Amino acid sequence: MSSKNRLDPIPQPPTKPVVGNMLSLDSAAPVQHLTRLAKELGPIFWLDMMGSPIVVVSGHDLVDELSDEKRFDKTVRGALRRVRAVGGDGLFTADTREPNWSKAHNILLQPFGNRAMQSYHPSMVDIAEQLVQKWERLNADDEIDVVHDMTALTLDTIGLCGFEYRFNSFYRRDYHPFVESLVRSLETIMMTRGLPFEQVWMQKRRKTMGEDVAFMNKMVDEIIAERRKNADAIDDKKDMLAAMMTGVDRSTGEQLDDVNIRYQINTFLIAGHETTSGLLSCTIYALLKHPDILKKAYDEVDHVFGPDVNAKPTYQQVTQLTYITQILKEALRLWPPAPAYGISPLADETIGSGKYKLRKGTFITILVTALHRDPSVWGPNPDAFDPENFSREAEAKRPINAWKPFGNGQRACIGRGFAMHEAALALGMILQRFKLIDHQRYQMHLKETLTMKPEGFKIKVRPRADRERGAYGGPVAAASSGPRAPRQPTTRPGHNTPMLVLYGSNLGTAEELATRMADLAEINGFAVHLGSLDDYVGKLPQEGGVLIICASYNGAPPDNASQFVKWLGDDLPKDAFANVRYAVFGCGNSDWAATYQSVPRFIDEQLSRHSARAIYPRGEGDARSDLDGQFQKWFPAAAQVATKEFGIDWNFTRTAEDDPLYAIEPVAVT
Ligand code: HEM
Ligand SMILES: Cc1cc2nc3c(=O)[nH]c(=O)nc-3n(C[C@H](O)[C@H](O)[C@H](O)COP(=O)(O)O)c2cc1C
Repeated sequence: MSSKNRLDPIPQPPTKPVVGNMLSLDSAAPVQHLTRLAKELGPIFWLDMMGSPIVVVSGHDLVDELSDEKRFDKTVRGALRRVRAVGGDGLFTADTREPNWSKAHNILLQPFGNRAMQSYHPSMVDIAEQLVQKWERLNADDEIDVVHDMTALTLDTIGLCGFEYRFNSFYRRDYHPFVESLVRSLETIMMTRGLPFEQVWMQKRRKTMGEDVAFMNKMVDEIIAERRKNADAIDDKKDMLAAMMTGVDRSTGEQLDDVNIRYQINTFLIAGHETTSGLLSCTIYALLKHPDILKKAYDEVDHVFGPDVNAKPTYQQVTQLTYITQILKEALRLWPPAPAYGISPLADETIGSGKYKLRKGTFITILVTALHRDPSVWGPNPDAFDPENFSREAEAKRPINAWKPFGNGQRACIGRGFAMHEAALALGMILQRFKLIDHQRYQMHLKETLTMKPEGFKIKVRPRADRERGAYGGPVAAASSGPRAPRQPTTRPGHNTPMLVLYGSNLGTAEELATRMADLAEINGFAVHLGSLDDYVGKLPQEGGVLIICASYNGAPPDNASQFVKWLGDDLPKDAFANVRYAVFGCGNSDWAATYQSVPRFIDEQLSRHSARAIYPRGEGDARSDLDGQFQKWFPAAAQVATKEFGIDWNFTRTAEDDPLYAIEPVAVT
């Protein structure tokens, strides 16, 4: 019998007395049930969970509105709240207002940044090699349990990159005891639903969970204590643990304590391994079902990695696997391993052009599985697997916030770059070596735990013949060419044209490029000043030029550019920058499609709107592909135009020995 709909006009499925919708939800596959309900009830509906409403949203217009972090914030409730038993106030399970969230977020941006990824690459290759070696040694008839092996891969990778620990999953029959404890605990957490008398029948499970948590904490605490004992070793290490033990939060000057570090490590193991293994497993499934896409994937891998399976793929080669990345993104669309996330309004709100009222604190679930099938975004056949959905053009055209497998805003996944690099590398190495065989003609059956992944998915593999992958005779991008012997650049006679080089940078990429530009400008006779954007709020020079290089973080400026960006957004006079001549280069990552290059774009637009003159069009560097290469193309061209602009008459000739610094010709006019 259905009672009066309290949140009308938000639709609600029929309820039962007292329990509301609580017991009608398929407890083994709640997300898939909700996804079916979204098809029936539309882009927004709500469930009565024994008196507490959960509003389920999947229409992209509404999700777009709910992605406004000034109005809505992540909420840690339900199963996620219970995950705190293992994750404590680690990043994933902390409330945004808890001091340890922002402290850890600030400290962990660096070990999850692009530069750090490059240093983890060899460890990622190490573990991926263990996987392919295991597969190479199988007999022709041996089956591979895909999820098992992908979980072994992702767990061992995060163990090694995170805290130099080898779980050695490929050398044991069962998972490492830590993983057994983690999985058992997560199962108990997922089974707990807050029903009356649940405590009684779950008593045994809860006792086991207490023991499991104590065991996990002890193991991680010992790893931390071991590192603390040898203080010198901390400085030598380049893993996430070292970054957490030494990192200082810029805004508070504080460090993480050891209990919080333990929770972060537990968190990386929870958030980091099942998700990426689900992604890889679903991707392999999709490839088996789409031979045409698989063929293109083989072509790309053969082209980029080449035929030599003994040559370790380089970091740069992995970034060139653009079609593989499109495939991975499309798999994240159809089978997002983290299929939903929770938010709530910071004040009473109305969404949907005034239609739906949501009270402060209401639990809202963004149902990513259904959002990713919204036909108004993905077309009339949203279930079709099509990597072209993630071509550059398609991504640029798509409305923002239509693809959210990594969550939203500042609370989005910090491990996104890590996961995508790891997955592209592993898939590349698998395809370089193996033919995949779908001997079971497996049909997707998703198992839901904290994440979603295929259940009972087995394949067989056969080594690919050399002739099959020899088509290109060698990789397009050979292993990095190795360091060149440094040569002393020749300095131009000074003409002392002022050149201000400004950066906005959290993790050093933009700062490093800015420093190189400044060095080069100085060598070419400019009177150079280098500083952060925030150092120059209200004082852009009217003479000479201004070169700006800036990153974005979830659409917001880096810490040392926030005041500058705020100032540019103020109500400035139309001609505020009438005599300023500038060029902007953005460091970004197109994985953040909705806010890709948003801050450098804003800076460029505001300067030009207030009468500054761009001496060269804004450049974009994409850390997802080849940021350094894009910068190398942009900068010499910008420099050449700048030279003309400032009427600098060079009579300067370089000798053949001059090092072109960053593979760029110094700004000589020919
Ligand atoms: C394909 C792989 C992955 C997917 C689909 C994924 C998905 C997500 C999602 C949806 C969130 C937001 C959750 C929420 O709003 O409640 C999240 C947060 C998070 N993820 Fe991932 N994740 C992946 C891989 C990783 C990896 C490899 C790591 C670490 C090594 C990681 C660490 C985290 C952490 C620490 C958070 C919390 C961030 C914060 O709130 O500050 N994830 N992830
Ligand atoms: C947590 C996080 C959020 C990011 N958000 C964006 C974004 O919204 N838009 C974008 O273009 N790039 C984004 N990026 C990519 C960075 O801007 C890019 O890696 C840049 O090179 C970092 O520069 P930095 O090292 O100077 O701080 C993000 C990176 C991280 C780690």
